Order: sequence, then C-alpha cells, then structure tokens
Amino acid sequence: MQNEVMDNVHRYFATTVALVTTSGRRYGSNVMAAEWTMQVSYDPMIIAVFLHRSPTYWNIVESKSFGVNIASDEQAELVNIAGGYSGTEIQKFAIPGTFDTYPGKMIKVPMIRKCALNAECKVTKIQKVGDHVMVLGKVLAAKFDDSKLPLIYTRANYRRVSRSKIPSGRRNVRISSEQLARFEGLAQGRFVLKAAACVARSKGRTLLQKFGDDWMVPFVVVKKGENYVRTLERQMRSNCAPASASRISVLLRMNLSDGKTSVRANFVAFRCDAKTLESGGAVRWFDKVPKNTILRKQLLQDA
Ligand SMILES: Cc1cc2nc3c(=O)[nH]c(=O)nc-3n(C[C@H](O)[C@H](O)[C@H](O)COP(=O)(O)O)c2cc1C
Repeated sequence: MQNEVMDNVHRYFATTVALVTTSGRRYGSNVMAAEWTMQVSYDPMIIAVFLHRSPTYWNIVESKSFGVNIASDEQAELVNIAGGYSGTEIQKFAIPGTFDTYPGKMIKVPMIRKCALNAECKVTKIQKVGDHVMVLGKVLAAKFDDSKLPLIYTRANYRRVSRSKIPSGRRNVRISSEQLARFEGLAQGRFVLKAAACVARSKGRTLLQKFGDDWMVPFVVVKKGENYVRTLERQMRSNCAPASASRISVLLRMNLSDGKTSVRANFVAFRCDAKTLESGGAVRWFDKVPKNTILRKQLLQDA
C-alpha cells in the first residue's frame, strides 16, 4: 500500500509543461518535455529545470544555455512528441508539421512559437538532486503571449485552465466617502490595508474608539511582518486602555466602498480582555453600541 502511495505522489501535483530546447554538437538541436520547471528568483530572474541525464542534459552541459517554452493548451501533441521520444532515437525537430521554431536572440538555441511563455536562459548552476539534476538558468530574454493559456499536467492527463476566475471572496461593505477617505489615508497606497481590531466587551459594555465623526472598535494598522497581537496590545496601551488579546474572533477580507472607489481592507479582530473599565484617552465604553459605529455588523457581529 505504502509503495503504491509513494509511486503516485507525483501525479497529485498540477504543473505547467516546458518544452526545453537545447543545442549541442553530438545531438544537434533538441527538445524535451519537462514539467519540473519553474521560476525560482525574481532578481536576478532564474528558472530551475529538473532533468534526468539525456541528450537535453548533455546539450546543456556543453552549451551552458537552454530555452524554456511553456506549452499552451493547444500544444499537447508537441509535448507528447518531446516527452515521448529521446534525441538519441530521432531528430524531433525534423518531424514535419510539428515544431515551429525561431532562433533565440541571446542564445544559440531554437525557441518554439505559439507558447504561453518563452525564456532564453544561461546556465548558472548544475547540481544533482536525488535521481535528477537541477539546472538553474538566468533569464536573458523573455516574452509571453496573453492570448495563450498554459497546458496543465496532472494525474497523468493534460488539462485546460478554466477561463473563469475564482471569486476573491472579499465582502463588499458600503461606507461613506468620508470614512473611505480615512481608510485610504491609512492604507497609504498599499494594495491592502491590514489591521488588527480589539473587540473588548465587559459587563454588557463595548469598547469603542472615535473614527472621524463615527465610532469603531479600536484598531491599529499592522505593517508587513509585524506581529498582530503585540502591535494591537501596544496600541491599546497607548490608547490608555491596556487589553490583552485572547483569541481571534473573526478574519474579514473586505472591499470598503463608497460606490465610486474602494479600498481593500483585511481586519483580524481579536477578542480582548480589557485591564480597565475606565473610559479615557481615545476610547470609551458604551452600554449600547451607537448606530454610527463603522463595521459594527462585521467586527462586532452585531445586528
Ligand atoms: C508531460 C511530461 C513531462 C515530463 N517532465 C519531465 C521532467 O520534468 N524532467 C525529466 O527529466 N523528464 C521529464 N519528462 C520526460 C522527458 O521529456 C523524456 O524523457 C524525453 O524523451 C527526454 O528527451 P531527450 O532524451 O531528447 O533529452 C516528461 C515527459 C512528459 C511527457
């Protein structure tokens, strides 16, 4: 049983398939299919390919260059040929009506037309990894075609990527233009405003903080990498309302909108135990949550 599982693990990944092109004296120009291909660094831009020792590998060792041509979903037949035959057996590029190539700009290797992506790579490292060899290549030139979708390989079948996108799952929340302007100010141009909120309730009372002309549960913007609990507790101390965050009550991913523009906001609300029931500083305890409390329904789960 265990061996059967081990033998099938590789099928449960879903990968793109690269047509890896190479050239060398012994095997000439060649192409193979390699699903174990991915970008592994932005700057410098590096692509990793994992190969067994075959003509493709030997060409790469000789020329120190290779082409990565990510197959589109119209190129399954080319993948079958590139992956089904070795350069030791036939000259794959010599099969009529198959590979449509153009010469690489930066490397002396043919590149394949009508792919989703073409990248010309110069080898920076070759290293054995288990029963394969990892080849890292710095990308010297690249181009892509947005009209093509990549072919996907999973569970031994080629598949298409659906054109329909998975909805973002963000809740749309309508707020006033003034409130939106405040959130925009807090977001400071960042893609998503990320914040930690303090939900403190005690003896039927709720802790709130002024937000413009309205009220809101106390919250703090959290910078990338900062710890939410520590940042929130620090903020509450400086609000003169020390509180300890006990557990997450809700994680909200929202689109805050005034009907014209919007701000993406992610709030992690913590249930907090307040150390004092005094109002003071920026915060106040309310017996009844006021009507003009922003995100009342979402953060306090209050009707
Ligand atoms: C869909 C598919 C994906 C493949 N992925 C890889 C891979 O990532 N690494 C690898 O070494 N071989 C992979 N292969 C096998 C090679 O493409 C195959 O052995 C090929 O004949 C090698 O070509 P060459 O001998 O001309 O270099 C794959 C084959 C197919 C059909």
